[in-house]
Amino acid sequence: MPKNVLNVLSGKIETPPPIWMMRQAGRHLPEYLEIRAQAKNFIDFCFSPDLASEVTLQPVRRYDMDAAILFADILLVPITLGRDVRFEKGVGPVLDPLSVADIRKFDPDMSHLEPVYETVRRVRAELDENKTLIGFCGGPWTVATYMIEGRGTPSKEGAKRFAYEHPEAMDELLKALAETSALYLIKQAQAGADVLKIFESWAEGLSPALFDRLVIAPTKMIIDRVRSAGINCPIIGFPRGAGLNAGRYAHKTGVTAIAAGTDVPLHKFREIIPSAMPVQGNLDPLALRIGGKALEAAVQNVLDQITGPHIFNLGHGVSPDVKIENVHAVINHVRTGRGDYV
Ligand code: CP3
Repeated sequence: MPKNVLNVLSGKIETPPPIWMMRQAGRHLPEYLEIRAQAKNFIDFCFSPDLASEVTLQPVRRYDMDAAILFADILLVPITLGRDVRFEKGVGPVLDPLSVADIRKFDPDMSHLEPVYETVRRVRAELDENKTLIGFCGGPWTVATYMIEGRGTPSKEGAKRFAYEHPEAMDELLKALAETSALYLIKQAQAGADVLKIFESWAEGLSPALFDRLVIAPTKMIIDRVRSAGINCPIIGFPRGAGLNAGRYAHKTGVTAIAAGTDVPLHKFREIIPSAMPVQGNLDPLALRIGGKALEAAVQNVLDQITGPHIFNLGHGVSPDVKIENVHAVINHVRTGRGDYV
């Protein structure tokens, strides 16, 4: 099989499109749960190259995905800024909420992330040379929402208020995250990541002015920094839920490619992004959970809307309740034109 993900990211049209899935490594796989049980907690798991490299490779082995995504988390970067990050069962990530004074005291220590680079080296060494290894970080705004609010919230109102009420502290926080994230991505690329991705999962519901300040500016800062370190690999941006703001994001941040959330009408998307830009997405993850005819129609709908260089993926992540046979059916459908939907 050719290096089809890299081909698409260099602007070529591959038919059928290459495929991988966000959150492809995770709790829907029994082999993941087995390894997960060996780790003390989720952060320790991410910082254990033995375990993390194994679960990174699992979905490639089981599904023959065209890409592996590094097993880690967007919330490892706050640890370099001295923040305590915990994952609680049934709650998700929990951090101590951040004050303006805390931001002034940041003293980054990048050494915490060293084990992740070891994971990248091990995966790249084991992965078939025709498969792509994707490294990643969170978008500064998305990571900041968790740091400010202390956990995931539906509206992100606390973080948006903070941006309005403490603009200087917010800009300082985003700058600190952009700098640490850039160093993190540079080291991942140097360790062997072929592609880098920036997960801006909470790009929705921002006014255009806030979006420019909170999302575009820090993302551009990361990419400029990565490029000035001589790293030329493709960078995929994922401004999930950005609506029309995604157009400015695609034009102004320096991303090579853009990942579309489920709400993006793919056939219209090219009108707002650079017209030859590679696109990734955007099957509804709920359809993947449901399966059957609904899933078949949803996959065909994405395939029918592809124009230009495209990587098949979900609009968001695989959830723990997804059935393995549904993932197989999607992959078969994309590769052969028909899936065995159940
Ligand atoms: O397969 C992959 O995509 C690779 C690894 C990966 C994880 N998280 C593993 C993970 C990636 C790329 C992420 C990114 C991430 N983490 C994002 C952005 C992408 C998105 O999904 O929107 C965000 C917002 C986070 C923060 C985060 N990490 C949350 C909110 C949670 C809890 C969610 C839950 O379902 O409990 C996590 C934990 C997490 N990250 C798990 C995995 C496999 C589940 C934890 C476990 O196994 O106990």
